[in-house]
Amino acid sequence: MEFSIKTLSPERTRTGCLVLGVHPGGVLTRAAQLADRAARGALREVLAKGDLSGKSGATLLLHRVPGLAAERVLLVGLGEQKEFGPATFRDAVRSAANVLKELGAKDAAWFIAEAKVPGQALAWNVRHTVLGVREAFYRFDQLKTQKKAPEPALASVTIALTGAPAAPQAQRALKEAVATADGVDLARTLGNLPANICTPSYLAEEARKLARQFKLGVEVLERRDMEKLGMGALLAVTSGSQQAPKLIVLRYRGAAKGRKPLVLVGKGITFDSGGISLKPAAEMDEMKYDMSGAGSVLGTLRALAGMKAPVNAIGVIPACENMPGGAAIKPGDVVTTLSGQTVEILNTDAEGRLILCDALAYAERLAPDAVLDIATLTGACVIALGHVATGLFANEQRLADELRAAGDDAWDRVWQMPLWEDYQEQLRSNFADMANVGGRPAGCITAACYLARFTGGLRWAHLDIAGTAWKAGREKGSTGRPVPLLVRFALRRAAAR
Ligand code: BES
Ligand code: MN
Ligand code: ZN
Repeated sequence: MEFSIKTLSPERTRTGCLVLGVHPGGVLTRAAQLADRAARGALREVLAKGDLSGKSGATLLLHRVPGLAAERVLLVGLGEQKEFGPATFRDAVRSAANVLKELGAKDAAWFIAEAKVPGQALAWNVRHTVLGVREAFYRFDQLKTQKKAPEPALASVTIALTGAPAAPQAQRALKEAVATADGVDLARTLGNLPANICTPSYLAEEARKLARQFKLGVEVLERRDMEKLGMGALLAVTSGSQQAPKLIVLRYRGAAKGRKPLVLVGKGITFDSGGISLKPAAEMDEMKYDMSGAGSVLGTLRALAGMKAPVNAIGVIPACENMPGGAAIKPGDVVTTLSGQTVEILNTDAEGRLILCDALAYAERLAPDAVLDIATLTGACVIALGHVATGLFANEQRLADELRAAGDDAWDRVWQMPLWEDYQEQLRSNFADMANVGGRPAGCITAACYLARFTGGLRWAHLDIAGTAWKAGREKGSTGRPVPLLVRFALRRAAAR
């Protein structure tokens, strides 16, 4: 799908579909007013009949409206004008895109991007338009022999303005958003691929592909490298599996060499059976998504490289399976991590923190400016925050604030949880430096507290995406979150310097 921004006249634009915004009570946006005037009041007449409520997300499709050059007109409800904000804007984008998906129109003049969102410039609208449309058009049918529906006809969307030409910032935002959408799509597809296809080796191959395509640096550590380094925790998790473990390091350099990199560590458990502490059978298939952190790191690097962002970033991905093989770790086993600290593995299903603690210790050697880890880490986080907010933990408040602001901006939101010392005692072990689980209370916090023991010397934040990286139920599938957040964060941080 091609996107562009142009100043156009709604009445004279020859297009497959004119997309116009209306508020309840027949209140027209500027573009809709111009079109209505050219159509001698035909739009107001339809609205007066009560065919479109104007509620955010409501749509009405008209064909061949006399006086307009467009083949079709799609009226889109934007909700009450005084309540118009990020949420209603996004609802309108999603609904309009879902209608366009089913049409024969090859192009669209999208006039609903200029509606003013309080506190935001046009660049914000542009980003959310592109990301919303691309989200609606995403398909994952590569594993079906019979495609459900034909490919949508829509090939180009013009973000149309009635007034002055778009500022350079808006054009820049368009380019950034397209690259971000490519990154989101990559993360979604990796998440949706089943564990028999998306193995640790597959993730490594995907990283190599990105490296070739975008001229990134790539390095893949094999089992023997992990053994030499002493990654006892990562090796413990992989020991029950037939799949070779990989530690993927992918480097993008978009800023001066001397700039310390942002290091993104992504949990890459390509299937989490729980290991010997086996998970129940129901819904275990969902544990193919347990590499979503890794997918979001690959997606974010793809986005940053695709837009040539002025940042230095390194992705570090510990990838393996968590399986109950004959050589698997057993509850009570004690292992020595790369940091030198020992861990008593009381529950083999708390494997994410085991692979992450070695990856975080490895990340420290890359002299990072800051380290973020991204992980589908705990069911407890889903209980606490549901599928709306990602759990945020940080050892520096400024970093937490930046992530919170970037998440709000990207509408890929996070909510901060405490990382207080008081929780650390739940990780006490009689046999090692610590246990890998802290019991049921505050499960997502004790998981973060465990990771904090491996990030002492770092500016570090942890994102628990167990509830936000994928959806269950009828709409089951990967979301591509938190790629939009991570990209926003990296760009805002670069701009703030
Ligand atoms: N991958 C899971 C967390 C998870 C659960 C993600 C549900 C998405 C949905 C993780 O490895 C895990 O099993 N965590 C355990 C930790 C417990 C044993 C302390 C959990 O949350 O139950
Ligand atoms: Mn687990
Ligand atoms: Zn897991």
